[in-house]
Amino acid sequence: MQRTKHVHLLLQSALFLVFFFYLSFKALADYIPPAKLDGFVYGNQPFTRDTILIEAFYDPVCPDSRDSWPPLKQVLGYYGSSVSLVVHLLPLPYHDNAFVTSRVLHIVNDLDTSATFPLLEWLFKHQEKFYNARTRNLSRASVVDEVVKSATEVVGRSYYNEIKAGFNNAKTDLKTRVSFKYAASRGVSGTPFFYVNGFLLSDTGSSIGWRKVLDPLVGANSVENEETMHFFL
Ligand SMILES: *[C@@H]1O[C@H](CO)[C@@H](O)[C@H](O)[C@H]1NC(C)=O
Repeated sequence: MQRTKHVHLLLQSALFLVFFFYLSFKALADYIPPAKLDGFVYGNQPFTRDTILIEAFYDPVCPDSRDSWPPLKQVLGYYGSSVSLVVHLLPLPYHDNAFVTSRVLHIVNDLDTSATFPLLEWLFKHQEKFYNARTRNLSRASVVDEVVKSATEVVGRSYYNEIKAGFNNAKTDLKTRVSFKYAASRGVSGTPFFYVNGFLLSDTGSSIGWRKVLDPLVGANSVENEETMHFFL
């Protein structure tokens, strides 16, 4: 009697576990992996096998992310087509408005990809108004409203309704979650973090000597090309 009761209990727990894992897998399977790679590609410089890829992990309301952007932007202009940049968003949980400001970037990127980086720059420039202390007494709805208005400053007032509607669209919530999960899967726990050709830079922030990091790599790529050419001549 005792024994059958035991077996029964065991079976019940096993069934429960199977069901539990089925449910959690199903929840994940709805959006992981995403249909499209996460990240915003900067400028007209898509990544190919011959370009050096910088991946930046940014939080739109993080001051260190903001400070690291101007030197990175400058160096991208300097190297031109040899270096590509993809920006991933990591909305940090201790920044109250990181998720909404990240979400508006996904919303705007869906409407017009050429507006994404101007909006990121706008958010960096005005991020103080979305800091924790400044928004402590504001309702969530009024912060979202402010974020929508801010985005129209960049993309134009005619987009107001579409951007507002974007905040009621579960897809844009999902995209922002995917950004967070992607950053977590890459081991990123703060912003800014930079990867160069898949390897994490030990330096972060605005102190990175980008020329010191990239000069040898750009040089190495051109030597490799010359060698390939000699081989074929
Ligand atoms: C928030 O409300 C408290 C209590 O009314 C007030 O003391 C504080 O200054 C307010 N903070 C801001 C940023 O408005």
